[in-house]
Amino acid sequence: MAMIITVANEKGGVAKTTASCELALLAQHNGYKTVLIDTDHQQGATKFKLRRDQVSAELPPLRVVPIVGKSVGSQIVDFARENDIVVVDAGGRDSQEMRLAMLVSHLVLIPTSEGDADTDGLNKMAMLINESRLRNPELKAWIMPARIPPTNFGATRALIEEELNKPIDPSVPNERIRDVLGTVTRCFLVQRSAYKTAYGWGRSVREMDGRDPKAASEVQAFYQEVVDHG
Ligand SMILES: Nc1ncnc2c1ncn2[C@@H]1O[C@H](COP(=O)(O)OP(=O)(O)O)[C@@H](O)[C@H]1O
Ligand SMILES: [Mg+2]
Repeated sequence: MAMIITVANEKGGVAKTTASCELALLAQHNGYKTVLIDTDHQQGATKFKLRRDQVSAELPPLRVVPIVGKSVGSQIVDFARENDIVVVDAGGRDSQEMRLAMLVSHLVLIPTSEGDADTDGLNKMAMLINESRLRNPELKAWIMPARIPPTNFGATRALIEEELNKPIDPSVPNERIRDVLGTVTRCFLVQRSAYKTAYGWGRSVREMDGRDPKAASEVQAFYQEVVDHG
């Protein structure tokens, strides 16, 4: 049975699709049989795969399967039976697909960028994770700082930590977001042009000619943390 990792955050533009594609490409590169399931109606991962097929055709293809609707959960489980790693790009809004994916996942990864570490966003994700754990009690949920300005990393981490101390529901002051989403990854993705360029080519930052070594080592650390501890 594969490890199932869902990448989700209600916020858009926080690098969910970038993180999903980097993770799937690295898993594949390391010899794991990998599939990336795209449940986002915007189909960012599917478009990434098409760009890869068109402009980076010399590289190994990435297997991306778009799935929407009620059968998302059962289809993810079917893919998990015949793969080592299943990554799900669950898109940027609360959806049936996001909820169904969380019910069958081992880990939900929540990319969180500087402007998005606000109560609304993390609150909502904490509520969704809480609900999912009623039926999937072992579900892990990690916040991953992403698209962080290079000079501002400490401040962003402090901001996230501050948000985690707030109550999930103001009428239940004892339950804090931290109680549900307590883990912030050690790894993080800095805001770098290398990610945008690679994304346009349907490639990992590691696969670019004259690659950015900092971006390449960041995604390697990200992959390693997920595979070792997820
Ligand atoms: N670390 C980063 N640095 C710079 N640009 C990034 C980074 N991560 C993502 N981007 C760019 O930001 C945009 C949104 O990223 P994307 O992964 O599509 O976010 P989401 O799936 O959360 O909406 C894309 O153009 C992508 O290339
Ligand atoms: Mg996306």
